[in-house]
Amino acid sequence: MSCCQCQGIERLFDTKLAKRELRMYRWFGPRRSTSHLLSFLRDKCENRTLLDIGGGVGVVQHELFDAGLSKAIQVDGASAYIEVSRKEAERRGNNERVEYHHGDFVDLAAGDEELRADIVSLDRVICCYPDMQKLLGSAASRAHQSVALVFPRDGRLFKLAEKIGNFFVRFFDPDYKMYIHATGDVTSLMESRGFALTGLKRTIAWQVHLYKRITPGV
Ligand SMILES: C[S@@+](CC[C@H](N)C(=O)[O-])C[C@H]1O[C@@H](n2cnc3c(N)ncnc32)[C@H](O)[C@@H]1O
Repeated sequence: MSCCQCQGIERLFDTKLAKRELRMYRWFGPRRSTSHLLSFLRDKCENRTLLDIGGGVGVVQHELFDAGLSKAIQVDGASAYIEVSRKEAERRGNNERVEYHHGDFVDLAAGDEELRADIVSLDRVICCYPDMQKLLGSAASRAHQSVALVFPRDGRLFKLAEKIGNFFVRFFDPDYKMYIHATGDVTSLMESRGFALTGLKRTIAWQVHLYKRITPGV
């Protein structure tokens, strides 16, 4: 990954953090916002394919394999997360059904037409990326049926939390920033790409959107 933010992602999401995320997942199961996302997808994933962008330690794919998912492609900007996700898939006997790509999805998708699937998920990912239009636009164009998103709620209080969060995060990595994108921009972009919002849930900090394709993609 070449951009500063991407280098920040590679450093921040390291092996130590990935192992901790996996431990938490094994002990407590998926976090609440991810559970909402999974509740949208479980009954739609039988014999379907998943493109999990920024899939981290692979919680979405591990859970959906149990619900009948046939294949997953994980694209992630952090090599440590891919390694931990791969080992967990091996432990669960699903490694033959997952394909991994390391890098910025926007760059990788531009050069690889095969990066597409029935379902595309971005669980807490668009908040790591400055150009939401590019990342989500590119992701939406690769979804045959649905796109599931977890991203921060917006509004004045959350914008303040973004500022405070970014003040502290620069002590961990000077190149990494988090972004709170306006909900209206996310919804408008998805609608302009031929999707309709069919599911919405919220936690204290996150919103979970499910979009269904209503006009054929290119
Ligand atoms: C906060 S973590 C979330 C991981 C996982 N989805 C979860 O909810 O536990 C953000 C993840 O998005 C990945 N990411 C961010 N921007 C990306 C991009 N443009 N392309 C690929 N991966 C990206 C990071 O590498 C990281 O694994």
